[in-house]
Order: sequence, then C-alpha cells, then structure tokens
Amino acid sequence: MRILLVGQGGREHALAWSLAKSPEVEQVWCVAGSDGMATENNVRCLPELNASPGPLVELARREGIDLVVVGPEQPLVEGLADSLQQAGIRTLGPVQAGARLEGSKVFAKRLMKRMGVPTADFEVFAEPAAAIEYLQAGDGRCVVKADGLAAGKGVFPCSSKAEAIEAVERIMVRRQFGSAGDRVVIESFLEGEEASCIALVDGRTVLPMASSQDHKRVFDQDRGPNTGGMGAYSPAPVLDDELQQQVRRQIMEPLMAGLAQEGVEYRGVLYAGLMITSSGPQVLEFNVRMGDPETQPLLMRLRSDLAQVLWACAEGRLSGVELQWDERPCVCVVMASGGYPGSYQKGKVIEGLPEAGRLEQVKVFHAGTRWQDGRFVTNGGRVLNVCALGADIRQARDQAYRAVEQIHFENAHWRRDIAARALERLS
Ligand code: AMP
Ligand code: GLY
Repeated sequence: MRILLVGQGGREHALAWSLAKSPEVEQVWCVAGSDGMATENNVRCLPELNASPGPLVELARREGIDLVVVGPEQPLVEGLADSLQQAGIRTLGPVQAGARLEGSKVFAKRLMKRMGVPTADFEVFAEPAAAIEYLQAGDGRCVVKADGLAAGKGVFPCSSKAEAIEAVERIMVRRQFGSAGDRVVIESFLEGEEASCIALVDGRTVLPMASSQDHKRVFDQDRGPNTGGMGAYSPAPVLDDELQQQVRRQIMEPLMAGLAQEGVEYRGVLYAGLMITSSGPQVLEFNVRMGDPETQPLLMRLRSDLAQVLWACAEGRLSGVELQWDERPCVCVVMASGGYPGSYQKGKVIEGLPEAGRLEQVKVFHAGTRWQDGRFVTNGGRVLNVCALGADIRQARDQAYRAVEQIHFENAHWRRDIAARALERLS
C-alpha cells in the first residue's frame, strides 16, 4: 500500500511511524513532513509541497497512492477531501460539508440541538450589539466562542459581564480572528472533568478508539493559558467503557445520522471534546481529526494494523473491524520552547535524543524540530512528544519523565504533572 500523509506535527509523526510499521505499507509520503518524520524507515518527506489540492492530486496519480490520510483540520475545512475524492483518490478525512463540525461552531451547535445531542444551552449572534445586550441581562458566567477556526484561541470562558463583553469585542469588533469572528456562540458554563473521545467513522459505523485525555493548560495544576496540549495519556480512567458506549450512542451516532439527513457521508476521524458533568457527558466541541498530542499515546498502544484500519474506514468497511490495544498505559509529555504559547525563540540545539530513545518502551515524536548542521534544533512551540508505555500508569509516567530528563535544550519547558489526575482517580 502506498500512503500519502498530510501534515507535519507530532500527531503526524506518530501517524507516519504507525503506518510505516504495517507490513502492507510500501512507503509513506509526507506533505510536507518534517525532519523528525524523515528518520523513520519507509517514510519520505516532501518539504517543497503544501496541502493544496492540485499538486497533491498530481503526486497521488504519479506515485500510485492508494490512500491519502489528512492529519490537520485546516485542509479538510478548505475542501481537500472533496478535491481528492473527485479525482478518484481514496481519502481518510471528511468532505468540506462534514468538516463544518469543526469549522463552524454555529453549525455544530445547531446540528446537535436538532439531533438531541447533549451540549450546553447556547445563543448565536451576528451583531456585537445584540450579543452585548444579551450579556447585560445575564450574570456574565458563560463561554464566548468565535464561530470559525481560530487555532484553539477563539474560546473565552468568562465569570463576569465585563469579561464576556470584552470577549465579544475581541472577536466581533476588534476582529482578532478575522472572518472566524463574523458570528459568536454564547453558551452556558459547564462544570465537570474534561475528556476526549476519538472515533473512526465510515459514514455508518462509529468505532471508538481507546480513551485518552490531554492537558490543555501550560502550567502544572491546570494553571496558565490554554495551549494545543502539554501532554496526554491513554487510557483515561474518567472515560470508562460504559461512558464511551454512551458517547457513541447518544452523541456520535445521532450526529452522523443528522449529517446523513443533509446528504453528507462522513468518513474519517470524529473527536468529541466532552465535559463529564453530574448529568452525563456534554459536548464542548467537535474536531474532525485526531487530537494532538492524544494521538501519540493512542498509537503507541494500538496493536491493530493502522494502515488496514484506515483503509477499511475510507472504504466504508468499519463494521467488520475490531481494534486491538496494548493493555499497558502510555503517557506522553510535551517538551515546549520557553515562552510557549506566547512568543519563543527557535534554533536551540537539542541534546540527548539518542539517549532518550534507547530507554525501554520509549518513543520520542518530533513536533517542532529541524535538522541543521548535523543535529536537531528547536523549530516550534511544542518541540518534542516524549512517550512511554508502562505496566501501569505510574510506571509509564515515570519512564516518560526519565526520558525527558535525558533531553536538553535551552529554556525547555514541560509540565511535571502529566497523568496526575488519572493516578489520583486510581489510588
Ligand atoms: P473548545 O475549543 O470549544 O473545546 O473550548 C476550549 C476549552 O474551553 C475547553 O477545553 C474547555 O476547557 C473550555 N470550554 C469550552 N466550552 C465550555 C463550556 N460550555 N463550559 C465550560 N468550559 C468550556
Ligand atoms: N489536544 C487537543 C486537540 O487536538 O484539539
């Protein structure tokens, strides 16, 4: 099988590594890929290309690509899967009309409401004056969200009217997120523990992956601003099998039925960001791709052949597939550049990668690195994803931190409490 993978972050390094392990896979082409991904066997990076449809269709035809796997959401929201499918190229990732689940919060909320999917009560506004008038009448405890893609930065949990009005002004008046802020969703504030449920969907069948949880805040004990994710682990004890089945039945299947009613066949990954409240799981958001960094520990634990599974998904044959998982938990610690998620410097020399990689059950995925003058240097906010399997979650965590201690770069920053909540829950 010849696979083309779109993307270049830590999630895509894990996808490339896992796909290339399959005996069925001859080669994984990565657009654009990264120098870290290029260290894997049977992985070839094409840094000169980007995710625009024309060159990808040409490449897929020239190289006889059997399956295109799209890592990030942006190209899906822009319609990459539509262009590939129109050219007869099998693709894992939803068409544009399905990717609206992530690309428009208004669309996702309205579809959930129509299908009775549990989510916070909400109102939609296209004018700032109307949004502010609505906020004036409440107590200010709410969450204000820009409708469109805002790189995870367009969501403002607020506890006062002043904060909520400021959020509306940032989004709709100062237009910090451009046209993503043409509309806002204002929703009620949910209490509980957050968890992610990631599933493969082939249009009919919803196949949940093992549970996982990420750590969004930059500092220990969930302090500081939100980031793309500072670490993750799998399984997540908060999302037991029963709850996961509930998410499948009450959330994902009705949602797919709602899309089907609109004539949309959704084939790809569906990620539900959930708040586990006292009255059950409620949807915070949908993503139309795997989580980053949740994918890294998930794929460390996947025993099934990823290439075959994704192929079955893209062909609409998921109903016959059962996923096999390593029983052992996996913990992933993100090593970031000092200053992230704000501004940071690039080009810091990274030492200790070979030493970390030699530790048992450890794998280091590259999120933001570059090969320069015979060594890896930092090249992004999130730099490395240090993953370890262990007999239990404590051992997995200890081994991941042992690997982290081997690695050095100037101003490196990482959280010390990854998986702490899972340990608390189990003790
Ligand atoms: P989203 O991108 O919509 O998942 O929002 C990002 C983060 O904002 C979530 O991970 C939650 O921590 C928080 N959040 C979003 N919606 C709500 C809500 N209705 N109640 C409480 N927190 C929320
Ligand atoms: N780790 C959260 C996300 O990928 O959206």
